Amino acid sequence: MFLNPQSALSASLASRTVALRALAPVFAAAMLCTTPPAQAAPFEDTIAQRTMACTACHGPQGRAAPDGYYPRLAGKPAGYLYNQLLNFRDGRRHYNLMTQLIDPLSDAYLLEIATYFSGLEVPYPAPPLATMPAEVLKQGEQLVMQGDAARQLPACMQCHGRAMTGVAPEVPGLLGLPRDYLNSQLGAWKTGQRKAHAPDCMKAVVDKLSMEDINAAASWLAAQPVPADSKPALSPPALPSGAQAVVCGSAAVAKALPGARP
Ligand code: HEC
Ligand code: HEC
Repeated sequence: MFLNPQSALSASLASRTVALRALAPVFAAAMLCTTPPAQAAPFEDTIAQRTMACTACHGPQGRAAPDGYYPRLAGKPAGYLYNQLLNFRDGRRHYNLMTQLIDPLSDAYLLEIATYFSGLEVPYPAPPLATMPAEVLKQGEQLVMQGDAARQLPACMQCHGRAMTGVAPEVPGLLGLPRDYLNSQLGAWKTGQRKAHAPDCMKAVVDKLSMEDINAAASWLAAQPVPADSKPALSPPALPSGAQAVVCGSAAVAKALPGARP
C-alpha cells in the first residue's frame, strides 16, 4: 500500500487526541520563544521544558512509537535534525502545525534544539510484526543492502550505514521508523513535496524506485529491530569497486557541526 503524507497524517490524527495535539503549538510557542515572568509558578528554563511543544507530538523525549506517524527525534544525528528544521522553516518540507512553531526561531536556536534531541539516548521498542509476504520483504532487504547494479541504484546501506543506524552528522538511520512514515517520505520525494539541500541525492535515488520497490524497502526496514548500539556510524562503508560516489548537498550544510567528518 502506498500512502501520501496527508492521508497517513489524517489517519493517524483521527485515531489520536486530535485536539490536544493541534493546540500544542499554540500553548507552547510562547514557551519556545520567551522566558516566563519571574513570579510565574516554578518553571525550569531548560531546553527539555522549552521543547515540550515538540514532545506533544513527537512523544516524551522525542521517542515516538514505531506504530504511528510521528517520526522519532531522539538519538538521530544532530546535523540531520538541524537540516530538517531548516527544511521545514525554509519550505523544502511541509507540515504547517510544526512549521509555525519553528518559523520565528534563529539558526542557532534550531541547532541547539537539534543537538538536544540528538543527544538523548532512549531505548527503541521492538518493531511491529511484518505483515507483508516473505518475497516482498526479501526484495526490500535486497534493495536496502545491495541496491541494483543493473539500474545503477546504490544500496541504501551505502549512505545510511552498514547497520542502517545512519552516518553522522547528516545521514539518518532508517530503523525504528513507522512503515507509514517511510512510505510517505519516499512518496513525498517522488512527487517533489519533500526536498533536501541541493544536490538532492535522495531525489535521484527515489526517482529510480517503483512504488513496489518503495513498499518493499519500507516494509523490510520497519520490521527490523534497532541494534543495541543505535548510534550513527562515523563514516560510510567503503564504496564497492567501480561504483561512483553520489554527492549529497545535506553533507555540506552539516559540515560545520560538532561530530562532522573532516
Ligand atoms: C502538531 C504536531 C507536531 C509538533 C507540535 C511538532 N512536530 Fe515535528 N513533526 C511532526 C510531523 C507530523 C512530522 C513529519 C512531517 C512530514 O514530513 O510528513 C514532523 C517532523 C519533524 C522532524 C523531521 C524528522 C525526520 O526524521 O525527518 C523534525 C526534526 C521535527 N519534526 C522537529 C520538531 C521540533 C523541534 C518541534 C518543536 C519545536 C516539533 N517538531 C513540533 C509533527 C509535529
Ligand atoms: C547517496 C546517498 C544515499 C543513498 C544511496 C540513499 N539515501 Fe536515503 N538519505 C540520504 C540523505 C543524505 C538523507 C537526508 C536527506 C535530508 O537531509 O533531508 C536521506 C534520507 C532518507 C530518508 C528520510 C528519513 C527520515 O527520517 O525522514 C529516507 C526514508 C531514506 N533516506 C530512505 C532511503 C532508501 C530506502 C534508500 C535505498 C533505496 C536510500 N535512502 C538510499 C542519502 C542516501
